[in-house]
Amino acid sequence: MSHLTPAIDAMPPGSLAWSQPERNGADLLSDPDTVPDELSGPRTAMPDSIESAFQLAKFHAPEIVLGPGSLAELGHAALRVGARRPFLVTDGGIQEAGWVAEAVGHLQLAGLRPVVWSDITPNPKDREVQAAYEQYVASAGDVIIAVGGGSCIDAAKGVAILSSNGGTILGYAGVDKVTQPIPPLVMAPSTSGTGADVSQFAVITDTAQRTKITIISRTLVPEISIIDPRLLITMPDDLNAATGLDALTHAIEAYVSRAHNRLTDHHALHAAHLITKHLQRTLLQPTKAESRIAMAQGALEAGMAFTNAILGVTHAMSHQVGGLLDAPHGVLNGVLLPHAIRFNAAFAPERYVPLAAAVGIDVHGTSAIEVADLLASYVRRLADAVGVPKGLADLGVTEADIPTLARTTLNDACLATNPRDASAADIEWLLRQAL
Ligand SMILES: [Fe+2]
Repeated sequence: MSHLTPAIDAMPPGSLAWSQPERNGADLLSDPDTVPDELSGPRTAMPDSIESAFQLAKFHAPEIVLGPGSLAELGHAALRVGARRPFLVTDGGIQEAGWVAEAVGHLQLAGLRPVVWSDITPNPKDREVQAAYEQYVASAGDVIIAVGGGSCIDAAKGVAILSSNGGTILGYAGVDKVTQPIPPLVMAPSTSGTGADVSQFAVITDTAQRTKITIISRTLVPEISIIDPRLLITMPDDLNAATGLDALTHAIEAYVSRAHNRLTDHHALHAAHLITKHLQRTLLQPTKAESRIAMAQGALEAGMAFTNAILGVTHAMSHQVGGLLDAPHGVLNGVLLPHAIRFNAAFAPERYVPLAAAVGIDVHGTSAIEVADLLASYVRRLADAVGVPKGLADLGVTEADIPTLARTTLNDACLATNPRDASAADIEWLLRQAL
């Protein structure tokens, strides 16, 4: 995993209209050591290893259908991946809003007889995944569909894992523990934030340990993501704010990740631009199409960036606090992110400069460390503006919780790609800063 020359280096001047062309980061980020001057022809002898493997950029993404009205594609999408009796995972709020009835109608129009499972709560629990899986087996389901937020989508992924890999969901914590192919997944997100509809992640609450496990596996990238911005208008304001901040955290953590590459950088920067420009507008004018479409795209691009570049210390910590308190994931990220930016920037501030430019901060004539500090303050102001509490104490975290939270943070898969190594003492310090 290395820091590669970002894609913005290869763009024509002025193409970053949402950035600041005179200092778009290209001068700061070029790393000639990682790019050869010349490419060689066919090899006559195979090398022992790929000597330039660190230069490879890999990118996984589902087929994506984005735009108002795209939910009508659900029936044909399910048919194309082999559905006969799709299993649709959702929750009570989405049902009440009328989206499940519409989704079922589209499936029926395509000749399908879906089974609906709606017993999912925020921060989906291990026992909920188990119950949904048992219903999936009992209903002889095939393709698994989720219509809902990240909780529904992650629960659907959990059902898919169990259906072909066996065992219990907590046994799949970590990277690449899912070894068998899973049933096709078709996702229709109802929030502009989690990125679960395009990601190789599933986060499930371990109810006994009161923590969250992160499952990372390529097989979890859905086949098709149908992103209909109409679904966003029935989100409550607090969920809109929380998931929007989650998406911004994805963009920022992916951009500075140790595993970022030239294919993820562009999406991360553009997502940061779209989300910071439009999140507050969606709160003021909830049915306005332009901002909802922009947020849907911003969350999508942030999702594509982070599923390939992975995340960092903000998510590693917020997963633990979320498991302990059942608190909204995006709210926790909004509280933690400014502290994580300052912590990382003290070690390597340069990559925060293009991010700051992308959100509209004037970076001219300012040192990278100061720019990173401005970005951290900007994120905090945005969190204030959308109603996020000042600190973790407001959410119920106490000093006594910190050692345990720090210990479990060290086990989180997201910590490995944070740009700065973090010890238990560092994590405790960060959590106290955020208290
Ligand atoms: Fe997240």
